[in-house]
Amino acid sequence: MRRYLYSWSKSGVKVFDSDVLVLGSGIAGLYTAIKASENFQVTVLTKKTMEESNTEHAQGGIAVAIDKADCPTFHLEDTLKAGAGLCDPLVVKILVEEGPACVEELMGMGAQFDRQDGELALTREAAHSHRRILHAQGDATGWEVERALVAKVKKSLQVTALEGRFVVDLLENHHGDIVGALVLNEETGELEGHLAKAVVLATGGLGQVYQFTTNPSVATGDGMAVALRAGADLMDMEFVQFHPTALLIPKAPRFLISEAVRGEGAHLMNVAGLRFMENVPGKELAPRDIVARAIWKELNLGPVYLDFRPIGRERILERFPTIYQTCLNYGIDVLTTPLPIAPAAHYMMGGIATNSFGETSLPHLYAAGECACNGVHGANRLASNSLLDGLVFGARIVEKLNHEIKSKRPSWEEVVCPEEGLASTGMNQTRRPLDDGGLRKLIQTLMWDYVGILRNKVGLEKAIELLMEWKQSAVSMHCVEDLETANMLTVGEVIAKAAKDRLESRGAHDRTDYPMRLDEHWQKHSLQRKGGFHVRYIPVSGAN
Ligand code: SIN
Repeated sequence: MRRYLYSWSKSGVKVFDSDVLVLGSGIAGLYTAIKASENFQVTVLTKKTMEESNTEHAQGGIAVAIDKADCPTFHLEDTLKAGAGLCDPLVVKILVEEGPACVEELMGMGAQFDRQDGELALTREAAHSHRRILHAQGDATGWEVERALVAKVKKSLQVTALEGRFVVDLLENHHGDIVGALVLNEETGELEGHLAKAVVLATGGLGQVYQFTTNPSVATGDGMAVALRAGADLMDMEFVQFHPTALLIPKAPRFLISEAVRGEGAHLMNVAGLRFMENVPGKELAPRDIVARAIWKELNLGPVYLDFRPIGRERILERFPTIYQTCLNYGIDVLTTPLPIAPAAHYMMGGIATNSFGETSLPHLYAAGECACNGVHGANRLASNSLLDGLVFGARIVEKLNHEIKSKRPSWEEVVCPEEGLASTGMNQTRRPLDDGGLRKLIQTLMWDYVGILRNKVGLEKAIELLMEWKQSAVSMHCVEDLETANMLTVGEVIAKAAKDRLESRGAHDRTDYPMRLDEHWQKHSLQRKGGFHVRYIPVSGAN
């Protein structure tokens, strides 16, 4: 595997520096940047606009145990149960115990959550034993969180936020320390070197690797791919969460229909009008992987519907204004008509392996949010734990930086560039993709068909073979779309290899040829590093 996505040389690269470089502008990136800016000069880079991220599209909310009837221990128990034996309990303990203070701080930064009679309103989602989901403007929680954080960043003199910056690769020095990132300025087509004492990857997920996803177009797994090329470990990449309910209308995107809709009482119905979850423990509120598979099975027989009507007209309009209006725009009035739905790729439980302070296997490289994996979500993330994850472990990175950041900023001279002497390689002036979208579509279809909700040896081997073949041909990088497609090939292959080697079914990873969960052999995390992506395993720490 190449160290850099394409050849480049140090001459002609515009160089910038700061104390902390944050890549990504979702909740993890912005919250980390704001907290780090109390002591450091911070640069945030994002590939599109500041607001465009998975966070912005989050509907359901933030899970936090603040109700009188609830407590962090219940939240911990629910998270471990949903995680199917693969969560690291100590990391989950940190999440649920440090979560309330982080949410308090987020509100201090300007995020406003819905209230009822003056108190914070809490809803339920699948596999939660208590009402503990904070939400904003009904079903626009992520939008509200982004609004508040972006506004705060824009006001800060300590944070420089630059849009339209695509991270091509990480930069290192002769000691192997990560010292910054090589970045493509999408407007000028020029390469920039952004140096920093510490680099935080908060680049989000990879839903776009799949044909059907709830994720926005920016979710192409770039952070995971650049970390892998730089030599970092990726962990638990076989665990991709498929959200049970995304809108299913021909030619429309798979718009997310929040789990909170079922939390408020909506029913799932099959083509015969039967509630097929009726006999499953937890019914419609069983863990996400279970509901997604049940729907998948029913889809073989005919369409599956989400019936909002048991919630009641007023409550639907109050709690789900965005979903109501979006569905209406597609011609379906959920007040009167059951909504056709299907599962879609939604969240990557795996990612860049970190400890509970966000430290990766590479010096001075940290990761937070969806691109990171610290064992908190196990094999199946509990609903609405992801925004909380971004806050808690973003804050812990800053705690670490406050004590351990390097004293001196790196210099451009110390950056290792293996292609010294080449002419500077910017993007071509026209910056049109070499690939007309055909390769990307092939990857997405292949991943959906063979590395999707149900998997088996034959399909996974076929997927790996084709992804490797396509990787050989996709060497020319003409613009951001090409770079993204290359990253999608990389992370797709990592997912497929981890899935092929895990010979059991657990959480979101379902092998039809190995249908049992086998704790004795497989209660362990998978790890992959560049160089053939040979899959290694480490124990789940603190598991009993
Ligand atoms: C949803 O609203 O169902 C999505 C929330 C999440 O993924 O945690």
